[in-house]
Amino acid sequence: MYLYILPTNNASINFIYSPSMAFLSALKNTTVFGKKNYKTLNNLLLKKQVSKIFILCDENTHPLCLPLLLQELSATLSYEIIEVESGESNKDIATCQHLWDTLSDLGGDRKSILINLGGGIITDMGGFVASTFLRGIAFINIPTSLLGMVDAAIGGKTGVNRKNIKNQIGVFSQALLTLVDTQYLKTLPQQQLRSGLAEMLKHGLISDKAYWKELSNLNQLRTEDLERLIQQSMEIKARVTTADNREQGLRKILNYGHTLGHAIESYCMDNANKTPLLHGEAIAIGMILEAYLSHKICGLSSMELTEIKQVILHSFPKVSFNPTEIQALLKLLIYDKKNEKGHINFVLLNKIGEAQIDCEVPEDLIFEAFAYYQEN
Ligand SMILES: NC(=O)c1ccc[n+]([C@@H]2O[C@H](COP(=O)([O-])OP(=O)(O)OC[C@H]3O[C@@H](n4cnc5c(N)ncnc54)[C@H](O)[C@@H]3O)[C@@H](O)[C@H]2O)c1
Ligand SMILES: [Zn+2]
Repeated sequence: MYLYILPTNNASINFIYSPSMAFLSALKNTTVFGKKNYKTLNNLLLKKQVSKIFILCDENTHPLCLPLLLQELSATLSYEIIEVESGESNKDIATCQHLWDTLSDLGGDRKSILINLGGGIITDMGGFVASTFLRGIAFINIPTSLLGMVDAAIGGKTGVNRKNIKNQIGVFSQALLTLVDTQYLKTLPQQQLRSGLAEMLKHGLISDKAYWKELSNLNQLRTEDLERLIQQSMEIKARVTTADNREQGLRKILNYGHTLGHAIESYCMDNANKTPLLHGEAIAIGMILEAYLSHKICGLSSMELTEIKQVILHSFPKVSFNPTEIQALLKLLIYDKKNEKGHINFVLLNKIGEAQIDCEVPEDLIFEAFAYYQEN
């Protein structure tokens, strides 16, 4: 059982339609930071002709984050709350099916709006469900995990896993609004914070050496210190994805660490003898492996290679992989979404702060990369 629906007691209200197209188009695909933006959210929900508001959360964000959101929402709004069970294994079509059924059973129509309140799983899956229900209803992302704030909730990639293949089913679809408020991070477990740090480190590696240096010098993850850094990561992600909405070129740089990282994440999720890894934990390993490939293929200096390995291993524990596991893992690379005409394309680094897309890598180098990652 992974779906519960809790009707709310709020009185329904009549929405007044005031079709301010300028207001709405100004908001389309907007990412905003800070508490002051709840005013924009309320205006949007009140001004747009919204027939029903649905709030999607999981069993953690429901008790921990929803009360904070409800304090900010206009008391005149009514909404339905839909809860799904957390976990990567529930980010699948079966859960989507329940969500589509629920939206339909609760009277969702084209003018309904879905607010995704949660980490990357909620925003990825909620965005996909909204974008496909009745050929697409509007959705708003309110990320509650660090990874969601700096990455998953921004840029319009939505989707779910098929079997053990990460994000194989999905669509590009922009949220009407993404509102980032760091108050939600107060209850986020430390291991989850660290998972978000991996994507922030990636932002530095692919586009901003000074930002990488600043992150490298962080001694502990305290949410107070993270505010400005989060905004910087949000800017990097938004800048890259706005320039290349559908990943034709530049946007591919965001996949640094993800070619091998996704394969590692999928492999560990699907094999009983492996401990499942959080997304950021798998990407952290992928970034070290792909730094080694960058050194061999794209001229990343050995000094920067060592620095990348040291900084990442300072925060992320090593995981060991034997040759049979590496071989099995390589088989998963054929599902990578950057592949074209049967070629596996990597994003590699020329140096810290500068990435290169569409790099081909021979298989033996990948084995060498694992050996480099595992050596002391
Ligand atoms: N669409 C994209 O561009 C993109 C980018 C990066 C990652 N992703 C996807 O994002 C997913 C990972 O996201 P994630 O790391 O946020 O995982 P997640 O959604 O599983 O959230 C992590 C855990 O923390 C809990 N949680 C969330 N916010 C909380 C809070 N404020 N307090 C307490 N607990 C809280 C959740 O219930 C969950 O158990 C992966 O599926 C990945 O593929 C997507
Ligand atoms: Zn990622």
